[in-house]
Amino acid sequence: MPFLAALSLLTATPASAAPLKTLASSHQLLIGSAVRTDPLEQDAEYRAFITKHFSVITPENAFKFEALQPERGKFDFAEADRLVEFARKHGIKVRGHTLLWHHPGAFPAWIKEREKEWTPAEAKELLEAHVRAVITHFRKQGKGTVFCFDVANELIGDQGEYRKDTLWARIAPDPVTLLDQVFRWARAADPSLKLFYNDYGIEMPGKKADAALRLLEGLKKKKTPIDGLGLQMHFSRRFRPDYAKVETQLRKYAGLGLTLHVTEFDYAIPDGDDSAETLKEQADAYAGAIRACLKVKACKAFVTWGFTDRVSYFKQDPSGEGRAFLLDEKGVPKPAFHAVESALRQGRR
Ligand code: XIL
Repeated sequence: MPFLAALSLLTATPASAAPLKTLASSHQLLIGSAVRTDPLEQDAEYRAFITKHFSVITPENAFKFEALQPERGKFDFAEADRLVEFARKHGIKVRGHTLLWHHPGAFPAWIKEREKEWTPAEAKELLEAHVRAVITHFRKQGKGTVFCFDVANELIGDQGEYRKDTLWARIAPDPVTLLDQVFRWARAADPSLKLFYNDYGIEMPGKKADAALRLLEGLKKKKTPIDGLGLQMHFSRRFRPDYAKVETQLRKYAGLGLTLHVTEFDYAIPDGDDSAETLKEQADAYAGAIRACLKVKACKAFVTWGFTDRVSYFKQDPSGEGRAFLLDEKGVPKPAFHAVESALRQGRR
């Protein structure tokens, strides 16, 4: 064998050997997933995949209101701090998630017990204290590891309406006034933290995307300190992405001068369907999302809402679909993993 051919055989790395984060970083893209603290601490395989492949992680639940303020005025950062310390040690960034969220799953019992009774003034006091305390804590503890925060999550309903029947909506009559206030508290607590609004169903043109644009334009007009928009991108056959439309919509948001992050990508497939066709449909959905993000310069992070079907919020879901992630139940890479890898090799075009 000629010397050069032998040398190239020796130096050629199999495609599967390159960490996703290395491929992504050459396009100034962060890549990662939501993570849970239990497997992070107890499962070496789970941990190894994260440290090999990811440059960013989002705590799936550990930074939510319920986790951080289990009793009024008594914060518990122990679990969150362990996650931040793990990330810091491995040079991984952390997306903070989330401060203002209406979902009952995010509220501690002490808030839920009196949910109907909190007055607007009390709601404001609770939220302000929470936002300031949490951000101040991670400014000191994380030393830049927690680099951005979904300050507010899912304020807009499915028809594009302001979610009015929620505790936090009592603070202000419209979403611009509410977020202007909350983002100012956040900026005051940490001037270097990147502040995001995060939502689902705003990825393609439609009522909800229009409402998100109006909200963001309103904030820009008020000079609210907002840096970015998080697009969740929970997709499936029922919520099928059309990536030409996704790209169009991403450009509209980028036109407002915002950084864009894909924050919770997944593509659920029907239970029991392991056909090559279905796995390819999922792989194409992952690759399409990466490509749409890479095409829009403002898109700087691609984060999935889990990475292995073994540790997955779909296990709580009765919808009849799931297995939405890169690795199967046994931790074996699915076609989606290889599709992400090759989309990252192609880069920004
Ligand atoms: C979900 C978690 O995955 C679940 O474990 C928890 O029980 C409820 O919250 N949009 C979001 C996430 O912004 O915070 C949600 O996470 C999923 C939908």
